[in-house]
Amino acid sequence: MPKTTILDIYKKKAEGKKITMLTAYDFPTAQIVDQAGIDMILVGDSLGMVVQGVSSTLPVTMDEMLYHSKMVSRATASAMVVGDMPFLSYQTHKAEAVRNAGRFLKEAGCEAVKLEGGSQMAETIRAIVDAGIPVMAHIGLTPQYVHVLGGFKVQGKDEATRQKVLADARAVQEAGAFSVVIEAIPALLAKEIHELLHIPTIGIGAGPDCDGQVLVLHDLLGLFDRFTPKFVKQYVKLKGLALDAVRQYKDEVETGAFPAEEHWFK
Ligand code: KIV
Repeated sequence: MPKTTILDIYKKKAEGKKITMLTAYDFPTAQIVDQAGIDMILVGDSLGMVVQGVSSTLPVTMDEMLYHSKMVSRATASAMVVGDMPFLSYQTHKAEAVRNAGRFLKEAGCEAVKLEGGSQMAETIRAIVDAGIPVMAHIGLTPQYVHVLGGFKVQGKDEATRQKVLADARAVQEAGAFSVVIEAIPALLAKEIHELLHIPTIGIGAGPDCDGQVLVLHDLLGLFDRFTPKFVKQYVKLKGLALDAVRQYKDEVETGAFPAEEHWFK
């Protein structure tokens, strides 16, 4: 199966086919997502919360993102791998943003990067794209801006923030982003953005009228239960299943039922 490219993503949009994206953070999770035929794997900085156990994405570093991105790239045969630029890896200076974006391709085998921010990031997006690196933008609720936004809140509900989200959408497309993640905005606003832009819109908590959808894998699998946003659908409760298996193992070791004859050497 050939690798998915940005041309395949454009083609899906042109044909009216939905684009699928999920996060993954290591070899086994990336294999599952890839083998299921998902179009794009995002090595999201959400790994801070669902893998590292911190309470926001802000502490995640470039080195950590590259470490996880390498594992994901190694496991991926067909999905396009998008590396998520962590907080302060692109906000300080355009040259630093280009260098860090390039590391995702050069060192970690990614095919694109994602970064958060709209109009204020337009010049940075342009500089990264000019360096030959496809950029997926991310607007609406941008978790790296949590303290400016005053919490993880739905964006674009009043006229001023609605206009801001629309301006951000136009700005990232104009800057050369090949697609845009739209997080936690009213479904009608997402529809408006979808109709306004020619680049694919990938929604998370943005309703049904985006070109594609993305979720955090650990939410979908029921591996993260600290909190569950309204937009998450949990397809399986894997934490409960894993807990049962580990409890059974503990029981069997304690009772001597494990290991049985088939598990030892003669
Ligand atoms: O970090 C992440 O996983 C993300 C997705 C939620 C879009 O940015």
